[in-house]
Amino acid sequence: MHTQSTSSASATDLEALRRLTSGRFTCRAYLPKPVPNEVIESIVEIAGKTASWCNTQPWHLLVASAQTTERFRAALMEHAAQTSGIDPDLPFPEEYRGAFAERRRDAGYRLYETLGIERGDKDRRAAQSFENFRLFGAPHVAIVTMPAELGPYAAVDCGAFIGAFLLAAHAHGVSTSPQAALAQHAKFIRAHFGIGDERLMVCGISFGYAQADHPVNGFRTGRAPQDQLMRIV
Ligand SMILES: Cc1cc2nc3c(=O)[nH]c(=O)nc-3n(C[C@H](O)[C@H](O)[C@H](O)COP(=O)(O)O)c2cc1C
Repeated sequence: MHTQSTSSASATDLEALRRLTSGRFTCRAYLPKPVPNEVIESIVEIAGKTASWCNTQPWHLLVASAQTTERFRAALMEHAAQTSGIDPDLPFPEEYRGAFAERRRDAGYRLYETLGIERGDKDRRAAQSFENFRLFGAPHVAIVTMPAELGPYAAVDCGAFIGAFLLAAHAHGVSTSPQAALAQHAKFIRAHFGIGDERLMVCGISFGYAQADHPVNGFRTGRAPQDQLMRIV
């Protein structure tokens, strides 16, 4: 049987991990340049190492090439512009309260501030929000789905996979936008790509090369202090 030796973490590994986790950010403006297939394959290969319950690996990615993304973008923008309600596969939060509402509001306001959008400017806020359906101009989108039969823990596994995908992409110099906004139109998107209802859409990930000089890509979020996320007893 083939076994691999376990090596303890090295300082270099830790440094690299810190650099990657601190350097990644959600990109919201892309260059049109496509990402080579070898790079996409390497990102997915690394993300595929993610742990999952019983090693079920319930994630599946439908990755759109640049051409397919263009057709999808046009169809999604048309659909979203004409549709008022949401139609997700996984239930969306009904309300954000307390610290969650605060963090959400703070991130939103600061994003708009970066773009010079006044708090009361509903039109520009709506236009920025609609950028989600333009996939922020990204040349690619991945649709993340999970088997309906496996229930919430498969969504946990998919979340871990998504996290690894974002970091692996960043390590390749590829920027990413995880997007639950796309899951608002899950049924439309699954129908567009021929994904049956035996799978549930978790979210989309738009990706490509960041437009470095776009102000929106200068926006960085903070994180809650450790005592809000951990209690050692
Ligand atoms: C599952 C998931 C869904 C998200 N959905 C959206 C989205 O629909 N639109 C968006 O602009 N950002 C979305 N984000 C990005 C978050 O807003 C972002 O990760 C958070 O504000 C922290 O910022 P950072 O990614 O730049 O560190 C999503 C992130 C995750 C993990």
